[in-house]
Amino acid sequence: MNEPAEQTLFEKLGGKDAVNAAVELFYEKVMADDRINFFFDGVDMTRQRAKQKAFMTYAFGGAPNYSGLSMRDSHKKLVEEKGLNDSHFDAVAENLQNTLDEMGVPADLTGEVMAIVGSTRDDILNR
Ligand code: HEM
Repeated sequence: MNEPAEQTLFEKLGGKDAVNAAVELFYEKVMADDRINFFFDGVDMTRQRAKQKAFMTYAFGGAPNYSGLSMRDSHKKLVEEKGLNDSHFDAVAENLQNTLDEMGVPADLTGEVMAIVGSTRDDILNR
């Protein structure tokens, strides 16, 4: 008998339905947050939610690849033209943390999520 494969973070979080629900609640919070919501002026949020679901699914080990733009390319203009910086990144991370806390995700898993998301900081901020 083979050992069962190690569960991915994606699976531990509850799979597709849980990650999709987290992304929905996350963008509700982001769009209500005046520190950061102006970055999304004119952005198609239906498409944005779909992209974010695909990216997080990939980043948490639930899919083998991600076909969207790189984190560097997709945020370059925001840095150059809208002044995207660490304080904005921190605000987005705070909204994600609050989302996972509200959903009752255990602290150790939330910690793993925040570490993965945190690892994108320098790419997002194009440095
Ligand atoms: C915290 C880590 C972040 C992740 C994982 C992330 C992820 C993504 C993804 C997957 C896309 C879609 C890329 C594509 O079109 O293929 C995107 C676009 C975008 N992100 Fe982020 N992002 C992060 C941080 C931020 C921050 C801090 C802001 C601003 C406060 C931001 C604002 C935007 C905006 C406005 C777009 C849409 C750009 C456009 O369509 O013109 N993101 N992000």
